[in-house]
Amino acid sequence: MAKITLLSILLFVPALATAKFPFFRRSNVPPEGYFNPLDKGGSMLTSVPNTFPAGLGEPMNAIITGNSDSDVLKDQEVDGGLRNYFLSFGFSSECLGQHAGDDQAADLGDGHGYLNESAVIRWNYGDPELGSCKESIEGGNHFRYWVQNGKEAQSGAVFMAVSYEKPISGLCSKADNSGMKLTCSLLLLLFLIEFHDIVINGYNLGRDWLVGNVTNQTMLIDSAQLTNTTTFSGQSTFKNYTYQTDVVYTPGLLSNTSDGINHHLSVGVNGSNAIDGLVAVMTVKIVSRPPVSASSRASPTLPLLSLSSIVALVMFVTSLFSLSL
Ligand SMILES: *[C@@H]1O[C@H](CO)[C@@H](O)[C@H](O)[C@H]1NC(C)=O
Ligand SMILES: *[C@@H]1O[C@H](CO)[C@@H](O)[C@H](O)[C@H]1NC(C)=O
Ligand SMILES: *[C@@H]1O[C@H](CO)[C@@H](O)[C@H](O)[C@H]1NC(C)=O
Ligand SMILES: *[C@@H]1O[C@H](CO)[C@@H](O)[C@H](O)[C@H]1NC(C)=O
Ligand SMILES: *[C@@H]1O[C@H](CO)[C@@H](O)[C@H](O)[C@H]1NC(C)=O
Ligand SMILES: *[C@@H]1O[C@H](CO)[C@@H](O)[C@H](O)[C@H]1NC(C)=O
Ligand SMILES: *[C@@H]1O[C@H](CO)[C@@H](O)[C@H](O)[C@H]1NC(C)=O
Repeated sequence: MAKITLLSILLFVPALATAKFPFFRRSNVPPEGYFNPLDKGGSMLTSVPNTFPAGLGEPMNAIITGNSDSDVLKDQEVDGGLRNYFLSFGFSSECLGQHAGDDQAADLGDGHGYLNESAVIRWNYGDPELGSCKESIEGGNHFRYWVQNGKEAQSGAVFMAVSYEKPISGLCSKADNSGMKLTCSLLLLLFLIEFHDIVINGYNLGRDWLVGNVTNQTMLIDSAQLTNTTTFSGQSTFKNYTYQTDVVYTPGLLSNTSDGINHHLSVGVNGSNAIDGLVAVMTVKIVSRPPVSASSRASPTLPLLSLSSIVALVMFVTSLFSLSL
C-alpha cells in the first residue's frame, strides 16, 4: 500500500513540474508536429523592416517539430535544451550578448500575430564563446527563430529563417591594411549596425549547410540535387548530450520563387529562383545524456514547487519509509 502511494507520488511530481511549461502540447497538433502558418493567416516569410521595394521577407526554411523531445523544445542551455542543441551543431548566441541589426518579425498563425525573433544565432567557427563575434564580422551561416506557441496553434515547433551572409568587411574594403579593416569592422559591429547581404543562393545554402552540420555529413549537401522527398539523419553532440536529428525536405510550405524574397536580385542569379521552396523539417531526440545526480537534474524545476510543498512532500515520503520498515 505504502509502496503504491510512493510510486504514484513519484510519478505525479514530474507531471506537476512539466504542466507549468509553456510548451505542453494540445492534442490537436497535426501528426507532422507543427501547424502550417498559412492555414491560420500567418506566413512562412518573415517581415523585414525597410526593404526596397517595401514588404519583402526572408523564408523560414527549417522547422524543429513539436514531435521532438520536450527538453529540446525548452529555450535554455541547461538540461540539453534548445541552446545546447544549437551549440551541438556549431551555432552560438550573439557576440557578447550584443544584438546587431534590425529585428525581423514573423506570424506563425498561432494567434500571436507578428512577433520579433526570439534571438539571432550564428555559426561559431568552432568557438562556442566568441565565435559568433567572428561571424558578425566575417559573415557566415546564421538564423533567426520563432516558437509556435500561441493558443491558436500550440505545437511548440521552432521556425528558423536560415541564410548565409557576406562579410561586413566588404564595406570596409577602402581601408588600406588589414588592421584598419578590422578596426572598421569592429566599429560597425560596436554600433550594432548590420549591413550584411546574403551570398548567391544563400537561403538554400544556409539551410543545407546547417542540415549538414546537424546530421554530421562528411560531404556538403548538394542543394541542386534536393527533391521533395530528400531525407538526412545523423547525430550531433555538446556537453555530453547527443542529439539524433531526422530531416525531411518538405514541399508546399514555401514556393519555388523569387517573389517577395528579400535580396532576391543578388541571391537568385542567372534566372534561378532565390529559394527552392523546400523546408528542412527536423525532428530531434536526445539519445544520450551526461550522467548527473537526480538532484541536479531536478533543480531547474524546483522553483515551480513552493518550498512548503517540498517540505511537506519530503516529510510525507520520509514517513512512508518509516512506516514500511
Ligand atoms: C521589434 O523590434 C523593433 C526594433 O527592431 C522594435 O522597434 C519593436 O518595438 C519590436 N517589437 C516588439 C513587439 O517587441
Ligand atoms: C557546416 O557549417 C559550416 C559553416 O556554415 C560550413 O562551412 C560547412 O561546410 C558545414 N558542413 C557541412 C557538412 O555542410
Ligand atoms: C514531388 O515532385 C514530383 C516531381 O518532381 C511531383 O510529381 C510530385 O507531385 C511532388 N510531390 C509533392 C508532394 O509536391
Ligand atoms: C561525426 O562523424 C565523425 C566521423 O566522420 C565521427 O567521428 C563523430 O563521432 C560524429 N559525431 C557524432 C556526434 O556522431
Ligand atoms: C563528458 O563525459 C566524459 C566521460 O564520459 C567526462 O570525462 C567529461 O568531463 C564529460 N564532459 C562534460 C562537459 O560533462
Ligand atoms: C551567371 O552567368 C554569367 C554569364 O554566363 C557567368 O559568368 C556567372 O558565373 C554566372 N553566375 C552564377 C552564380 O552562376
Ligand atoms: C525549382 O524550380 C526550378 C525551375 O524554375 C526547377 O529547375 C527546380 O528543380 C525546382 N526545385 C525544386 C526543389 O522543386
